[in-house]
Amino acid sequence: MEYQEAYSKLEKYGQLHVFKYYDDLSGYEKEALLEQIANTDFEVLSQCQHKEELNPRGKITPIEVMQLPEIEEKREEYTKIGLDAIKTGKVGAVLLAGGMGTRLGSDAPKGVYNIGLTKEVFIFQRLIENMLDVVRQADAWIPLYIMTSDKNHETTTSFFKEKDYFGYNPDYVTFFMQDMAPASDYDGKVYMEEKWKMSTSPNGNGGWFLSMMKWGVVDKIKEAGVEWLNVFAVDNVLQRIADPCFIGATIATDSAVGAKVVRKNAPDEKVGAMCLEDGKPSIVEYYEMTEELMEAKDAQGEPAYNFGVILNYLFREKDLEEIAAKKLPLHIVEKKIPYLDENGMPVKPQTPNGYKFEQLVLDMIHELDSCLPYEVVRNHEFAPIKNKTGIDSVESARKLCEENGIAL
Ligand code: UTP
Repeated sequence: MEYQEAYSKLEKYGQLHVFKYYDDLSGYEKEALLEQIANTDFEVLSQCQHKEELNPRGKITPIEVMQLPEIEEKREEYTKIGLDAIKTGKVGAVLLAGGMGTRLGSDAPKGVYNIGLTKEVFIFQRLIENMLDVVRQADAWIPLYIMTSDKNHETTTSFFKEKDYFGYNPDYVTFFMQDMAPASDYDGKVYMEEKWKMSTSPNGNGGWFLSMMKWGVVDKIKEAGVEWLNVFAVDNVLQRIADPCFIGATIATDSAVGAKVVRKNAPDEKVGAMCLEDGKPSIVEYYEMTEELMEAKDAQGEPAYNFGVILNYLFREKDLEEIAAKKLPLHIVEKKIPYLDENGMPVKPQTPNGYKFEQLVLDMIHELDSCLPYEVVRNHEFAPIKNKTGIDSVESARKLCEENGIAL
C-alpha cells in the first residue's frame, strides 16, 4: 500500500497516531507498517464505543441433551457408525491453538507446557496420545489440522518436529495460521507495539474455518473427502478427540452439529450452557446467566441449563462453508496489551489497559438449525488448563489425570 492511501485509511478511522514515528523508520520498517495498515480491519475498533449493544440476545429456552444412560444404551451402534466414518476418511480434527494463554502466564504456546511431575508430559502430547487411541481403534489415521497464530506459529511447528509429532503421522498433520486483529485502548485507538508495528492479538477462535479457507486447507479437505470436522481446544488434556461414539451419535441423529457437554458443578459455574435461543441452538455464557435462568427447572425437575460446553464440537464441512459467508458476532474483551508510551518506550502492563476483538467458535452453533448436546463424564473428559493454580489449572488437571490412570 502506498503512503498516501495508508494515510487516508488511518484518517478515516481516526488512527493517524500510527504514523507518529513514520519519518524515523528505515525503508524496510516503513514497508512493514504500510503492509500492516493495508491488512488491518480498523472498522472493528469503532465497535467498542457501543459494546454493550453489540450482541443482543433472543429468548432463551432449554434444549434437549443426550444424556449418559441413553448414550450407554446405544454405545455399540453409535461407535460402529463413528468408526465407519473415520475408516472411510470422512472425519478430520481441528486443534485450536492460536490463543495467547495469558492466564497461564507463560510466553510460550500453551501446548508446549509441561504438566509432568516425574517425566515430561506436554499438553500437545496428551492430546496426540488421546487421538492415537482412536487411530489404533479405527486402524486409520485421522487428518489433524492445527491452527496457530502469528505469535506462536514458529514455536509450535518446530516443537512438533522436534518431538517427532509424538508418534503421530506427520503426513496427516497440517498447520495453518489464524488472522490477527488490532488491539486498542479504551477509546478504540490502536496501540503501537513498536514504532513500525501496531499491537495485535489473535482474532479469536471463531475465525478458524475462514483461515482454513484462506490457507487452502479447505480445498485439501474436500479433495480428501472429509465431511466432518471435530474442533477442539488446546487446553483440555483429558478430552476424547474424534470420539467414535460421539461422531456416530451426531450422524445417527442427523444433527447439523454435535457439542460435547458436561453436567455443571454449580448453577453459576464459569462455563457456557447449551440452550435454545429463539428456537435455534445456542450457548448462554456464564456472565449472562440471570437468577431466573439459574433457578429454572426442566420437565423432570432438573436445572434447565445444567450442561456446559467444553469446546469440543463436530461440524459438517458443508455447513461451515455457509457459516463462513455470514458475519459472526464480535466480542470485545479487556486485556493487558503491551504498548509504547508517549516517549516511545515499551510498556508491559500488569493490569488490563484496553481491548482485544474476537469472534468465537460457539457463535457458529447458533447459525445451525439443529445441535446434539452430548453428555460426557465430567471427571473423565474435562480437565481444562486455564490457570497455573486453583480452578481449571495445571494443579486441578494433574489431579484429574491421576484419577484417570495417566502417569505424570
Ligand atoms: P481461551 O478462551 O482459553 O483463550 O481459548 P486463550 O487465549 O488460550 O487464553 P487466555 O484467555 O489468554 O488465558 C480457548 C481455545 O481457543 C483457542 C485457544 O488456543 C484455546 O484452545 N484460541 C483462542 C485460538 O485458537 N485463537 C484465539 O484467538 C483465541
